[in-house]
Amino acid sequence: MNQTISKVFKSKFILNFLLSVILIGLASCGGGSATNSVTQNVTTVSTPAGIAEFTTLSLSNLANYAAPVLPAYFDATVGALDNTPANNAVNDKVATLGRVLFYDKRLSINDSISCSSCHQQANGFDDPRRFSQGFSGLEFTTAHAMRLGNIRYYQPGNMFWDKRANSVEAQASQPIQHAVEMGFVPGVGGIPALITKMNASSYYPDLFAFAFGDAAITELRIQQALAQFERAMVSYNSKWDTAYAQVFAPNANNRGLGTVLPGFTAQEDRGRQLFIAGPNNGGAGCAACHQPPTFALVANSRSNGLDAGETIVFKAPSLKNIGLSKAFMHDGRFDSLEKVVEHYNSGVKLGPALDNRLSPNGQPLRLNLSTEDKAALIAFMNTLTDTTLTNDPKFADPFKK
Ligand code: HEC
Ligand code: HEC
Repeated sequence: MNQTISKVFKSKFILNFLLSVILIGLASCGGGSATNSVTQNVTTVSTPAGIAEFTTLSLSNLANYAAPVLPAYFDATVGALDNTPANNAVNDKVATLGRVLFYDKRLSINDSISCSSCHQQANGFDDPRRFSQGFSGLEFTTAHAMRLGNIRYYQPGNMFWDKRANSVEAQASQPIQHAVEMGFVPGVGGIPALITKMNASSYYPDLFAFAFGDAAITELRIQQALAQFERAMVSYNSKWDTAYAQVFAPNANNRGLGTVLPGFTAQEDRGRQLFIAGPNNGGAGCAACHQPPTFALVANSRSNGLDAGETIVFKAPSLKNIGLSKAFMHDGRFDSLEKVVEHYNSGVKLGPALDNRLSPNGQPLRLNLSTEDKAALIAFMNTLTDTTLTNDPKFADPFKK
C-alpha cells in the first residue's frame, strides 16, 4: 500500500483517538476517577484499516501483557531479579506492537524470516534445528537459538550465550542487522533502511502512534516494543508450578523447594530432590545455578565445563520448557537430555571459565548417578514444560498475510 493511503488512515486514527480523549474528558466531568477508568475501558479505539488488513489485532481489545496474575512465589525475592528498566515497563499497547514486530517477516531484508522463524512458540521460543537458517536460506547461525521464557529474570549484562548484549532492549535490534540472520547490514542501509520500509507500510505508522502517542518509528522504539513483548513471556504454568504453588512458603526452609511435591510421580520427585539438593546432600546441585522458580541462571554462574580449557563464561536460558527443546548448549551439541545429564554426570572438563560448583577441590565434579537417577533428573526437567506459554494466543502470530 502506498504512503498517501497510509497517511489518510493515520489521520483517521488520530481523529478517533482525539474523539475518545474528548469522551473520557466529558465523562470525568460528571464523575470521579472510578467512572473515569470504566469509561476508558469501554472506549472503543477503532482498528485502522491497514492494521486490520494485515493482522488479526483489535486495538480496542488488547491482550493483558502488563499485569498477569502471578503465583505467590513470584514475590519480592524474584522481583529483585527483574531486568525491566524504569523507562520501559511493559504496557499492553507497546507489547502488542512488539508482537507484530516479532512475527513480521518484513523485518528481514528479503521478507523471508521473522524473529519467530528461529524462536518458535510451539518449541518454547526455541528452534528445533541445531542451527537456524538465516534470511538467505543458504547460511546458518553458528549458535543454537535460545528459548525466551523468563528472559526478564536475568540481571543486565546477560543477553546471548556469551552475555555480549547488555539488555533485552540492546539485544533486540541486533538480529535485524545480522549478516546471516535478518540481513539489514550497514551495506544495504542498516536500521535506517528498515525504518524507511516500515514507514511505507500501511500498518506501522498507525501502530507506533497507538503504542507511543506519535507515529515516529525509531530504533529505540523497535527495541523497546520487542523487549516488552519478550519480557511478558513469563512461565508459571508448568506441572512443577502447579505443585510448587501448594507447598511454597516464603519463610520455610529454602522457600519450600525441598518439600515433596503433590501430584508428582515418585520418579519426578526423586528428580526434584536431585535437582535441588547439592552434591554434599545427596543431590546433583543443578538448582545452585538453574534457580527456581524461574529456572533462570543465577548471576554468578560461570561455565559448565563443556570443553577443556574453556575461557568464555556462558549463560543458559531458563530451563522452563527445556523438554520441548531438541538441541542443547550454546552450540546445540547435545541432541537429548540424556546426553546433557551424562555431561554433568561424567563429562565436566576443567578450564579457566569453569564454575567452582562443578569443580570442587579443583577437580571436575563426578556425580556417579545411577541409571534410575539419571532418568529421574530428566523426568523432573520434563515437569518444567509450560504449554500455557506455548499456546497462549497473545504470544502467537498476529498476521493474516
Ligand atoms: C536466524 C535465526 C534467528 C532470528 C531470525 C532471530 N534470532 Fe534471536 N537468537 C538466535 C540465535 C542463534 C541466538 C543465540 C545467538 C548467540 O548467543 O550468539 C539468539 C538469541 C536471542 C536472544 C538472547 C536470549 C538470551 O537469553 O540471552 C534474544 C532475546 C533473541 N534472540 C531475540 C530475537 C529477536 C527479538 C529477534 C527478531 C528481531 C530474533 N531473536 C531473531 C537466532 C535467531
Ligand atoms: C555452575 C552452574 C551450573 C550447574 C551447577 C549446572 N548447570 Fe546446567 N548449565 C549451566 C550453563 C552455564 C549452561 C550453558 C552452557 C553452554 O551452553 O555453554 C548450562 C546448560 C544446561 C542445559 C542446556 C540448556 C539449553 O538451553 O540448551 C541443561 C538442560 C542443563 N544445564 C541442566 C543442568 C542439570 C540437570 C544440572 C545438574 C545436574 C545442571 N545443569 C547444573 C550452568 C550450570
